[in-house]
Amino acid sequence: MKKKASSQQQKLRSSSRCKRKIFAALMFAFCLGSFVYFQARFNGIAASLKNQQARLNQKPQIAFLFIARNRLPLEFVWDAFFLGEDGKFSIYVHSRPGFVLSEATTQSKYFLNRQVNDSIQVEWGEATMIEAERVLLRHALRDPFNHRFVFLSDSCIPLYSFSYTYNYIMSTPTSFVDSFADTKDKRYNPRMDPVIHVQNWRKGSQWVVLNRKHAEIVVNDTIVLPMFQQHCRRKSLPEFWRDRPVPAEGWKEHNCIPDEHYVQTLLAQKGVDSELTRRSLSHSAWDLTSTKSNERRGWHPMTYKFSDATPHLIQSIKGIDNINYETEYRREWCTSKGKPAPCFLFARKFTRPAALRLLRESILLKDKEQAS
Ligand SMILES: *[C@@H]1O[C@H](CO)[C@@H](O)[C@H](O)[C@H]1NC(C)=O
Ligand SMILES: *[C@@H]1O[C@H](CO)[C@@H](O)[C@H](O)[C@H]1NC(C)=O
Repeated sequence: MKKKASSQQQKLRSSSRCKRKIFAALMFAFCLGSFVYFQARFNGIAASLKNQQARLNQKPQIAFLFIARNRLPLEFVWDAFFLGEDGKFSIYVHSRPGFVLSEATTQSKYFLNRQVNDSIQVEWGEATMIEAERVLLRHALRDPFNHRFVFLSDSCIPLYSFSYTYNYIMSTPTSFVDSFADTKDKRYNPRMDPVIHVQNWRKGSQWVVLNRKHAEIVVNDTIVLPMFQQHCRRKSLPEFWRDRPVPAEGWKEHNCIPDEHYVQTLLAQKGVDSELTRRSLSHSAWDLTSTKSNERRGWHPMTYKFSDATPHLIQSIKGIDNINYETEYRREWCTSKGKPAPCFLFARKFTRPAALRLLRESILLKDKEQAS
């Protein structure tokens, strides 16, 4: 009997011990859970505070928008240009669909994961080049810290240091758009009237720098673009794609090279010409040897090879301080912050060996003061 009782007592004791253990375990789990929860909350708050701090310290960024065929052959120059400047720039790359910019195809960390995922095939005879530009702008506009949008080709190099370039572009609220009227221009298709009036028809380089407002105008446009798609088809390769002179024959037909007119004409149409610095920051040398007339017939941009890549060449491009627009009787004296300044911050077209030589011989990426 005694034995039984004690065994019952033992059972009771052990069951209450068991309950206590479960209770303790539950308490422990609860405490641990709360701890983890509050820790996470606290981390979240800390992170968001840190984020806010970072946002307060965030500088306006320049978005560099690269239009490439495949990889970026001159990425090593840009890598040196961007080094140590994190937070002041962002990069977007438009390459042909199917090409992937990965560790196998780029050696620069700045270009990894910077390819837009909805690129389009840029075809000649279509307005696809301007559509590619719009794809890049659409991506870059999603980042509210992007204040300027610079279009660059895959054969383009920077001439100065990042800080000189940044200050030059940010020192004015204007966009930089090479834009001029040419009343004798045969590329204007009268069928675009009345949507695009001939007075608003503009010509100029596609390598523009846009502020946010003008970038939004380009992305929002649903009126001028269809006119270009319909009435501005070309028979020849876009200037960017061209390696050889345009055959003179092709120019007798009606074609208009959308990328040399679209942004300029759209901005004129929107009445914002006065918000532009009406010149390009990217230098191209047009080879005139193949033509005697001053028509663009037969023009094509020069490509600089290894043997051309000398300090003298870069000095001569940097030395340009004005641009003459013959059709408008306008000479644009280049200024920055109200002072005379070099006209060009970028130059094209350079081969890889040429750019390698310029970088190795420390001809590029200097500040203006050091450079002169
Ligand atoms: C591209 O990426 C974005 C976000 O990462 C995604 O929402 C979108 O569906 C993607 N587009 C394509 C065409 O894959
Ligand atoms: C472009 O469209 C967006 C969205 O509809 C609008 O918020 C923005 O103000 C427009 N920008 C311009 C410059 O028209």
